[in-house]
Amino acid sequence: MKKSEIKDLVSKLTLEEKAMLLSGKDAWSTVPIPRLGIPSINLSDGPHGLRQCNGLGWGESVPATCFPPAVLLACSFDEELAKKQGAAIGEEAQDQNVQIVLGPGNNIKRSPLGGRCFEYFSEDPVLSGHIAAGVIEGIQSKKAGTALKHFACNSQETERFVIDEKISERALREIYLASFEYPVKKAKPTTLMCAYNRINGDYCSQSKWLLTDVLRSEWGFKGFVMSDWGAVDNRAQGVYAGLELEMPGTGEENKRELVNAVNGGPVAMPPVDPKFRNKLTMRQIDKAVTRLLEVVFALHEKKTEKPCDYAKHHRTAVEIARESMVLLKNSGALPIKGGKTAVIGEMAVRPRYQGGGSSCVNAIDVTKPLDAMREYGEVEYAQGYSLDDDADYSRINEAADLAAGCDRAVIICGLPDSYESEGYDRTHINLPDSHLRLIDEVVRKQPNTVVVLCNGAPVAMPFIGKVNAVLEAYLGGEGAGQAIADLLYGKANPCGKLAETFPQFIEQTPSYGNFPGENSRVEYSEGIYVGYRWYEKHKIPPLFPFGYGLSYTTFRYDSITLSADEMTENDSLTVTVKLTNTGSVDGKEAVQLYVRQEAPRVSRPEKELKAFKKVFIKAGETAEAVFTLDRRDFAYWDDKYHCWRVDSDKFTILAGGSSDNCPLAASVQVTSQQQYCEPLNIHTQFMELKTHPKGKTFTDRLRTAIGGDKFDEIFAHLPQDWPLRTLVQMYDSKLTMPMLVKLIEQTNQE
Ligand code: GLC
Repeated sequence: MKKSEIKDLVSKLTLEEKAMLLSGKDAWSTVPIPRLGIPSINLSDGPHGLRQCNGLGWGESVPATCFPPAVLLACSFDEELAKKQGAAIGEEAQDQNVQIVLGPGNNIKRSPLGGRCFEYFSEDPVLSGHIAAGVIEGIQSKKAGTALKHFACNSQETERFVIDEKISERALREIYLASFEYPVKKAKPTTLMCAYNRINGDYCSQSKWLLTDVLRSEWGFKGFVMSDWGAVDNRAQGVYAGLELEMPGTGEENKRELVNAVNGGPVAMPPVDPKFRNKLTMRQIDKAVTRLLEVVFALHEKKTEKPCDYAKHHRTAVEIARESMVLLKNSGALPIKGGKTAVIGEMAVRPRYQGGGSSCVNAIDVTKPLDAMREYGEVEYAQGYSLDDDADYSRINEAADLAAGCDRAVIICGLPDSYESEGYDRTHINLPDSHLRLIDEVVRKQPNTVVVLCNGAPVAMPFIGKVNAVLEAYLGGEGAGQAIADLLYGKANPCGKLAETFPQFIEQTPSYGNFPGENSRVEYSEGIYVGYRWYEKHKIPPLFPFGYGLSYTTFRYDSITLSADEMTENDSLTVTVKLTNTGSVDGKEAVQLYVRQEAPRVSRPEKELKAFKKVFIKAGETAEAVFTLDRRDFAYWDDKYHCWRVDSDKFTILAGGSSDNCPLAASVQVTSQQQYCEPLNIHTQFMELKTHPKGKTFTDRLRTAIGGDKFDEIFAHLPQDWPLRTLVQMYDSKLTMPMLVKLIEQTNQE
């Protein structure tokens, strides 16, 4: 429908109808206005597969393919693969008459304790933003809509509806918002879903700075914003801030609020934003309704309800899991060749392949690891532990005895459902004690032991030195069982890399002591130092670093070439990395590109991921990965001038297969012509006069005004961090404050 037709439609709506449209019809659809041919559209979770349900949705949902949750998909380091997952979800959305898929979830993993870490991609905004963009482009390539969520900083579950997060401007811009900025600009999501929490006092659902100034005015977002379910505080202020759709619908309640806000009637909720007086203009209402209807009609017209191939999607789910699981340790036990394997752990027959809460999919075809492994070799099973009773140690000895009689043991363990979910955070990062004791006892009797972990977030691994190999399978979707078997038996070569740091213990983590906060407040005191940025800055050795992952082959990083060794901040730089597969099997490598500023004027991380590329290389062959870096890749956020800033400096470009292993490096000298200065004032420090464009003029004026043959000598020896106002104390007889202020004003106005 053309914009002009929508404009005409809006002019025919009554205020009551407009107010109705800005709130859901129920929990999963928008309001239709039949008399004007306005359709209703359907929304459905979730980020890694559809969860079509009735009511508020805690019953069984319509079956759909359960793809790997974000925590594993991100480890693929493959934006194209993410797009493939999105496209399959988009096909199922069309098949199931869903117009907006409520995902992807893209919040930064501030702490591994976060209950929804399984649902989010990474601790790094570049990796997170690119994978999210892939999913969005995939879903939207099938003409279905998306809701990038939760905008912004939904980093914890504890008190998520009210928590007030105190976050610095740099941390917001460089980490938490950056994760959304890239997909908003690159993939243009149909909608965004705002988060429950407050940021520096303002609820996301009514923050004009967040939903209008940043999202629309700066980033150019054109869709509409919906609330998370129940996230609306003051509905009228929400419309003023840029929140078009309240979900779920609240019927008469908030319709009346909006009508009264326009008509000057009583508005129940007290306004929080001092610039908002609970008054809305019809123009503001019309703008919100227009944004909503543009999306509603666009998606309604693209409905195809085309049947899709769920079996093919299952194969896609297996493929993605296979390409994403991370081989953390291998002292030769893998891949499995022959012999008899003791498969131990109830997760081998009751696989844990997704997290709890609104993202939970009624999976169509779940593969059990034991069944898949049985296809590849001789196996025997022992339960080892109970998923229903953490304190059940009764199955350990039987499992250890079985392992002793086999050629190897594969223990499939991890975090039971009750350990992590939407709605609550973890309080520790330990595996259940029964799983740990099982590992110890099995290893004692069978040194050739492999551990396969099924967990939605990092765990401590006290056993890491005792076992022969560890495969981090994370929560791998319905195809995880097949992927685990394929990787263990070498039918596929592991190529996943960690999208988050694994700490040795929780006290190492950046947010430790400030998670999840107290009295409904949480201080993001680590600032920009989230994830590997923290560990590297503080030289803390983690258990496993960001970007780490092994293969059954080996890669040698041969060379890095830059298109220039000097550039201005407005140039782009091409980086070519060459690497060789020096092993005996074909494999894929996630080449990572980091940038380090050598002498920054502000605190900056040791290095930051700026690009990555998954490269397939046949055994013995060489390939290259080419990247383009631009201004933003060298910039930091200047919280004095509130802009992205590049300073002239030497930058080092590093390339490698892990954040802790970048064998290639090359330097480029960046020159920035941009001047950053505020007008001179009495607080300007003497040292700033050297670089300020009007510094010399001011000094010349000052010499003329107070003169003296010793002026230059005195001036040169002033303490350089003193402010201009101290001149009055030093030259009290000759220089008064009004004289100084006038000198400064004359200089600024020149
Ligand atoms: C939940 C979640 C959100 C989900 C929505 C609908 O509270 O925070 O991710 O899409 O409600 O289920």
